[in-house]
Amino acid sequence: MCGIVGVLGNHEVAPILVEALKRLEYRGYDSAGIATVNNGTLDRRRAVGKLVNLSDLLVHEPLAGKSGIGHTRWATHGAPSVTNAHPHMAGPVAVVHNGIIENFRELRAELAEAGFQFVTETDTETVALLTQMYMNAGAGPVEAAYQTLDRLQGAFALAFLFQGENDLIVAARKGSPLAIGHGHGEMFVGSDAIALAPLTDRITYLEEGDRAVVTRNSLEIHDANGALANRAIKTIQIDAARVDKAGHKHFMAKEIAEQPTVIGNALANYLTADGHIALPDPGVDFTAIDRLTLVACGTAYYACLTAKYWFEQIARIPVEVDVASEFRYREPPIPDRTLALFVSQSGETADTLAALRYCEGKAARILSVVNVPESSIARESDLALPIHAGIEVGVASTKAFTCQLTVLLMLALKAASDRGTLSEEALADHVSALRSLPALMTTALEQNKAMQNTARRLSEARDVLFLGRGLMYPLALEGALKLKEISYIHAEAYASGELKHGPIALIDKHVPVVVMAPRDTLFDKTVSNMQEVMARKGKVVLISDAAGLEEANEGVWASICMPTVHNAVAPILYALPAQLLAYHTAVAKGTDVDQPRNLAKSVTVE
Ligand code: M6R
Repeated sequence: MCGIVGVLGNHEVAPILVEALKRLEYRGYDSAGIATVNNGTLDRRRAVGKLVNLSDLLVHEPLAGKSGIGHTRWATHGAPSVTNAHPHMAGPVAVVHNGIIENFRELRAELAEAGFQFVTETDTETVALLTQMYMNAGAGPVEAAYQTLDRLQGAFALAFLFQGENDLIVAARKGSPLAIGHGHGEMFVGSDAIALAPLTDRITYLEEGDRAVVTRNSLEIHDANGALANRAIKTIQIDAARVDKAGHKHFMAKEIAEQPTVIGNALANYLTADGHIALPDPGVDFTAIDRLTLVACGTAYYACLTAKYWFEQIARIPVEVDVASEFRYREPPIPDRTLALFVSQSGETADTLAALRYCEGKAARILSVVNVPESSIARESDLALPIHAGIEVGVASTKAFTCQLTVLLMLALKAASDRGTLSEEALADHVSALRSLPALMTTALEQNKAMQNTARRLSEARDVLFLGRGLMYPLALEGALKLKEISYIHAEAYASGELKHGPIALIDKHVPVVVMAPRDTLFDKTVSNMQEVMARKGKVVLISDAAGLEEANEGVWASICMPTVHNAVAPILYALPAQLLAYHTAVAKGTDVDQPRNLAKSVTVE
């Protein structure tokens, strides 16, 4: 993962770099560092852990200069340490890197042979040393950087800064995104446009294989074949304001609370006044489609699993769902008339992007459902459907998940309408259920206290199981993911009916089992599975509606009452207790809710 920035400015650059890195900290927070050139002298500061540690260091050991590069790290090669922190320097060059240099072992051997010493365990150090080697041999900075780039295999976004060069950054993109920002007599480089938003809204996106020579007043780009490339400058709309917690203790709490509003926004952007689904141009004709392939990672994958039920039940389209990291290497056949759909909050997830590229030229259409409209996945799709969740900062995805579900359900309804599998009356019924969601979510959020109380008890567990059937099964998976990623409690989810085929052996009096079960057609079946758990002394947390609780509440360890809801939209509403249980459990355990250990918000390495 990692986030990189570069600034050729007219002011002291250290605070600008730190501010830009703050906006990239979602990419990793194992260490952070900056390098500057001041009157020709290259120097750097680095600190382990979050960016605040680098800020503190800069108070005591300031770094002057109007040209600089910066980095926030998610460790891949080498433990989080000051030594392994970027920028990596070798003689006259400093380098920041997002990605993985796959042939770094061969390069290290070659450099060692040539007498170079390594001080870090990182793959990136080879980039700095190679550049130094080429400069020692007489190449100028740009030539040396380009010669180095020719040697690299793997995925990278790189920025190079040079001793003696106050007006030069060399940048390159292969597999990891990189944006160049245009100021007035200033230029910027960033892993994404969000990092640069307070500095400029005029952005050039580098394309695969591009290399760029950046000065304060010029940008020269060469494509993968070495030819001069003319890349457009786009004016983008990103809220430049620093996102804040709006009085909440954590971003995650704020983002959970925002859901009634953002779901309302998503609905407003796709529903016409007369209750039809309107997609952005060029739209999709689902009568030209025989099959859907949905691909994503993590929470977005669970949104796809949910959507499978909707597309199959409502629109009668066969659906395959895959995790992107498996899909991309399985080389699945993609029959004609397949619509390939990629779901990603960030729009930058490396595996999802690679899976999308695999489908190019094979699938009839490539669609994406994204939160960041300027992201790589959005830009490389035939049609990108934004989810309108707003910036999501918490590493644990919450509002993006429910917005993804909402957009996917609307897409399934559009498919049903195109294919004539749903009557006008049934369509209106589903649309009205969607429209009721913001109010129902507000009511559900009023159960916060009950969830907090239950979470306090959950926080003492070592293992927690989640059960659900039908549309509640993917949600059970999402509930377990949320709990483990922020509370570090081991959690697993099963389709309720699968429990007796093995996992029931895990049940004893110490294991809480969260059962997601609105009073729907599958309720009785789920309750039977729940009874099997209670018969073995498992501690059941039943999440249901008033009718469900009245029928099945007896003997449970805890229960949470949700508003009564239309079956089709239930997973969107029931996501809230799943999120709040995880949130309050993590708070009770005192973990780092917004930036849990070992994780990053955007996974740009495979
Ligand atoms: O940005 P994406 O939606 O592509 O990210 C996919 C996953 O990395 C992400 O959903 C991850 O699982 C979250 N941490 C879950 O809360």
